[in-house]
Amino acid sequence: MQVKIFEDHPELSATVAREIQELVQAKPNTILCMASGETPRLTCQLLVQMIRSGKTDISQLHFIGLDEWVGIEPGNSGSCHYFFQHELITPLGLREDQVHLFDGMSTDLQAECKKMDETIDRLGGIDLIVAGIGMNGHIGFNEPGISPDLYSHVAQLDETTLTVGQKYFDSPTRLQEGITLGLKHLLNARKAILIANGKKKAEVIRSAVRETVSNHLPATIMQTHSNGFIMVDKEAASLL
Ligand code: F6R
Repeated sequence: MQVKIFEDHPELSATVAREIQELVQAKPNTILCMASGETPRLTCQLLVQMIRSGKTDISQLHFIGLDEWVGIEPGNSGSCHYFFQHELITPLGLREDQVHLFDGMSTDLQAECKKMDETIDRLGGIDLIVAGIGMNGHIGFNEPGISPDLYSHVAQLDETTLTVGQKYFDSPTRLQEGITLGLKHLLNARKAILIANGKKKAEVIRSAVRETVSNHLPATIMQTHSNGFIMVDKEAASLL
């Protein structure tokens, strides 16, 4: 794993967006997986601009959503679905068959997990995963204590995730579970980039980079990824 430090969030986001665009140019049938949330929003916006202005062929691209809140409608602006739809799917004009998102409203969440795992297998595996990091060190909804051997699964959300997660919603929202790709997907991805910005992420980034790999802080698993990168701005790197 390598750590890369950038001046600020815009520089970090532009670098990641450019990297995604270059990957898609080199491999038009790229399988891209991304997290939603505050950290990757600018990356998504810059990627849309770059793809449009570079006239990059995205007709064979497949997009996989990293996770979703269970029980939250896709039309709810706090859902991951809403984020992906508004930041990537609609602006890029991705077809339905190119997009693979968890249905957090499904009455059979195990079947959703199985479908996602089978889709990833059928497509030949994830080329690039761009993930964020939670204040508790989660990646996706791989919460502290999670087994690194899991593929897609339903997660009981940790207290920190339940509290911090309210920031995405217009009004107080009952959250309990998430559905997420597992750490095994992260490790199997041909490349994994974890991004973080801002002072508030400095402590958890320090732990992810410096502490012994342990499922108590799921993001430490990045240390074991042979093509893994932690890309942060100066503020998030301030305790390294
Ligand atoms: C969301 C996701 C989460 C976030 C993490 C950081 O799809 O996978 O793990 O990446 O909670 O969220 P932000 O970027 O909002 O600080």
